[in-house]
Amino acid sequence: MTTMNDSEWWRKSVVYQVYPKSFNDSNDDGIGDIPGITEKLDYLKELGVDIIWLNPIYKSPQVDNGYDISNYREIYSKFGTMSDFQTLLKETHKRKMRLILDLVVNHTSSEHPWFKAAKSSKDDPHHDYYIWKDGDGKKLPNNWGSSFGGPTWEYVDKLGQYYLHLFAKQQPDLNWENPRVRQEVYNIMRFWLEKGVDGFRMDVISLLSKDPAYPDGPVIQNKAYGSYYKGAANGPKIHDYLQEMNREVLSKYDIVTVGETPHTGIDDAVKYTDAKRHELNMVFHFDHMHLDYDENGKFSTKRFKLSELKEVFTRWQNGMAQHNGWNSLYWSNHDQARPVTRFGADDSEWRTQSAKMLGTVLHMQQGTPFVYQGEELGMTNTRFTSIEDYQDIETKNIYHDFMENKKLGSDYTMKSIYLKSRDNARTPMPWSQAENAGFTKGTPWIKLNPNYKEINVQDTLRDKNSVFYYYQKLISLRHTLPIITNGKYVLLDKDNESTYSYLRESDKQVLFVAGNFTADKQIVQVPSSLREKDSQLIISNYETVENNNSTQIELPPYGAAVYLYDKK
Ligand code: GLC
Ligand code: CA
Repeated sequence: MTTMNDSEWWRKSVVYQVYPKSFNDSNDDGIGDIPGITEKLDYLKELGVDIIWLNPIYKSPQVDNGYDISNYREIYSKFGTMSDFQTLLKETHKRKMRLILDLVVNHTSSEHPWFKAAKSSKDDPHHDYYIWKDGDGKKLPNNWGSSFGGPTWEYVDKLGQYYLHLFAKQQPDLNWENPRVRQEVYNIMRFWLEKGVDGFRMDVISLLSKDPAYPDGPVIQNKAYGSYYKGAANGPKIHDYLQEMNREVLSKYDIVTVGETPHTGIDDAVKYTDAKRHELNMVFHFDHMHLDYDENGKFSTKRFKLSELKEVFTRWQNGMAQHNGWNSLYWSNHDQARPVTRFGADDSEWRTQSAKMLGTVLHMQQGTPFVYQGEELGMTNTRFTSIEDYQDIETKNIYHDFMENKKLGSDYTMKSIYLKSRDNARTPMPWSQAENAGFTKGTPWIKLNPNYKEINVQDTLRDKNSVFYYYQKLISLRHTLPIITNGKYVLLDKDNESTYSYLRESDKQVLFVAGNFTADKQIVQVPSSLREKDSQLIISNYETVENNNSTQIELPPYGAAVYLYDKK
């Protein structure tokens, strides 16, 4: 059982992720902004979240919506000013919430002054801030393919060298081997921490340390290039770097850190998050996000299998608990499809029930839950009929690749985009039934999900049965019942493809959690150890749940129920 002291407030917190560009536009230029977030803090307070995470707000050419930073100490002008930021921070703290920022330091923008200097001459002191390989412009240094298509290497004629970019070519990778780069990053972190921010979500942090041999990667998922994961994920020095960062910066502040760690299993996650190792507090793994990948990778039309989902959650619940690590819990973020569409009942009659059920089975697990904006409304994916309406660099690239290179045809290509495009998560937050859902009076930078007349904040707040109030209750249960933070997780009925049930156990109590992933009624057996014991239904998405002599419960379509038992 994990125990907690006060400085570990993040273990019982719930995080809300705000995608600033799509949250709320205060000046009607069509782009969400920082004053727009400040206007909505009371809404977040009402939901009951403890921590707000903002996607990047720094100066950026926006090739990858702010994950390409050209000045780490300035606010992107369309988002507002430093004083707007300081107001947001002050108002957040006034409401007893915390604010964390996205730290994007695997790469900068190619417009960052460091990179401009670096590519001006091999003798420039900033040259070694990036990763270069000599070459002739014809033969690539290795076979790695960038996350957004094409090779990870871009040739600079004048230097006779390639630079590395694991993402777009406008996102050159920083050279973490260079101690000056690391000191620059620590100074940037101190700059924000001294302003009072409460921590960082660290972008693709598992990719900082590259294998110095730069070995070719395996060619998987019908890709044109090899995968860079073997040579870049969890590389030889990653834990040294993070321990140094912790020693020099993180340990000096009362903050929370969560690393985004693509291609990281339990063994490495334990290294990142074991409190005794002094690296990070928690990481985002992707194992449940990979369940519906196929030979075409993320952009597949395959659906997940419930037994596999349970296997992933259970492996992480047990793995982290056994090794003193800590889980982050999430269904979605700005890179993922909407969970109701992906794991629930989409836009059908069971939409809200499935949204609540998904919330239940995630929030009752051990870890720190992350709620992505709009998830608390049960927002669904969006289908834009034309590829022109998509704004995301990954989506545009996949469209091109599937249509031109792989010749998969537009039916398949668009279907996979409907299911997986990152823009599903990036449509503007629907605040009301007003024009543009009350997000802006201007022209929104990306189209709205047309279902905003049915799914919006204003209507949600008027409906006491809404997904919002259900999430509010899930969050408040975490704040009031220590067993949700500390209890031991035990999976039940692991092969059942219709229901997900598990226990959380402490010395004195047991939580029994059950969720129905189908549109039919399902029976869930109560474990024999709990039968005859007194129990209390602490949350359910239905008013009544049939509980037959305490031996089994009957869950209606997409039903969820959580019972609290006293052990004595
Ligand atoms: C992370 C971000 C994603 C971004 C990428 C490159 O995966 O979440 O949005 O495109 O890193 O920075
Ligand atoms: Ca604006």
